[in-house]
Amino acid sequence: MSPVKVTKICCIGAGYVGGPTCSVIALKCPHIRVTIVDLNQARIDAWNSDDFNLPIYEPGLEDVVRQARGRNLFFSTDVDKAIEEADLIFVSVNTPTKKSGVGAGFAADLNYVELATRRIATIARSNKIVVEKSTVPCRTAESMRTILEANSKPNCRFDILSNPEFLAEGTAMTDLFKPDRVLIGSLQTPEGISACQSLAQVYANWVPKECILTVGLWSSELSKLAANAMLAQRISSINALSAICEATGANIDEVSNAVGYDTRIGPKFLKASVGFGGSCFQKDILNLVYLSESLHLPEVAAYWRQVVDMNEYQKRRFSQRVVDTLFKTITGKRIAVLGFAFKADTGDTRESAAITLIKDFLSERAFVNVYDPKVVHEQIWMDLQEASPLVPLDNIKKQVTISPSAFEAAQGADAIVIATEWKEFRDIDWERLYKGMNKPAFVFDGRLLVDAEKLTKIGFKVTTIGRPSPLLT
Ligand code: UDX
Ligand code: ADP
Repeated sequence: MSPVKVTKICCIGAGYVGGPTCSVIALKCPHIRVTIVDLNQARIDAWNSDDFNLPIYEPGLEDVVRQARGRNLFFSTDVDKAIEEADLIFVSVNTPTKKSGVGAGFAADLNYVELATRRIATIARSNKIVVEKSTVPCRTAESMRTILEANSKPNCRFDILSNPEFLAEGTAMTDLFKPDRVLIGSLQTPEGISACQSLAQVYANWVPKECILTVGLWSSELSKLAANAMLAQRISSINALSAICEATGANIDEVSNAVGYDTRIGPKFLKASVGFGGSCFQKDILNLVYLSESLHLPEVAAYWRQVVDMNEYQKRRFSQRVVDTLFKTITGKRIAVLGFAFKADTGDTRESAAITLIKDFLSERAFVNVYDPKVVHEQIWMDLQEASPLVPLDNIKKQVTISPSAFEAAQGADAIVIATEWKEFRDIDWERLYKGMNKPAFVFDGRLLVDAEKLTKIGFKVTTIGRPSPLLT
């Protein structure tokens, strides 16, 4: 069976995954027409905006969109037309953790995947390769297949592939241009293998063949969860050790450096922090926990659960350290929080540690000035409201100010808390910040970002993750 040559691709979902991924496919495959669709008109308008004011901030993305948009890359809300025309459809819709019902707080909400799948079944009049790109629990492809087959028209076949995305936000463009691997899962039938080859041919336009791995459907789905769980596990491991460092006088940077020199361990993802965030790690681990429980494997579930519990502990421990260091009370004090995104080089705030920290500071009745170079203000208000649903937004606004710069955030503050590792916070004029603050002026580095010795010389009392607290003189 010879694989179909893909000439038209539709991507359902113009978010952090679908947008960058399919923009790069369009750039690298000028012979393929790529249409990215979304129900959200405002999002599509932003992708189409004349001044390239794109709905997501990702270094290098604008350049790619400038080159391909209008050539073979299109953004539209006409979902049906794009489905109808495509040979291959990526499903890149959101799969948040369920908020209610069975599995609430753990299982993925597959409602968006199901609705998109049903739309494909209703509209399609010719054969389609349907690719699940969103991170989903194992066996979702099977459910998609059942829905598609139960609703398809005669002479219209669907082949389902799993092709999880491994890009990290902030480095998405490099990750897409030079992926460590592309993973494609299919049923091991002649039709499944042929569909898999069709997609592999798309990636082969720029990805070396040896980096394109083809596996069974369920291995592919589980590999994505496994990769994220193991990355997060490294962070929780180093964060657990950071607590020991703080209590003993060891330095977590030195420990992770020494540990990372072991080639079997390697240096990446060993940076202690105030806690990992992002749309994937927690969600995927909780998915794995839910899956393990459903499979009656409670020990496996408990093992992975601990990675998330350790992350919560790390955030809580950090807020507590701020309170303890500020003479055991922050009531009425002003705290400048630098960074609101879950990591540098993105405007994404999903599961950001900054949200938990600010919530903790507010419940201690402190005032907070927050500054982030990329996160839009409405997003900050939405996140803070969602974190404290019982507190009216007006009350939150009485305690929180969004500042236009780090200088303004630090003005009149008692302490600075670094929540995101934006480079500009490292290079900032700390002397100037110091001058504007109440004394003693405290810095809490939740990202191992700043030169603690330099700041101490200026006069700051610096507290760093994974190092003992300074003596207050
Ligand atoms: C992650 C995976 O890396 C990616 O492969 C997958 O496709 C999606 O999930 P992302 O969440 O975008 O990507 O960013 P990542 O760089 O993994 O960082 C996640 C969180 O861990 C951030 O909050 C980051 O600050 C934190 N982190 C990362 C640490 O605290 N320490 C580290 O050493 C690395
Ligand atoms: P991710 O990080 O997984 O890309 P996002 O929330 O950034 O998640 O993007 C998912 C996008 O999918 C959203 O813009 C949402 O509007 C879109 N979406 C969800 N369901 C559908 C659907 N049935 N048809 C088209 N777009 C959809």
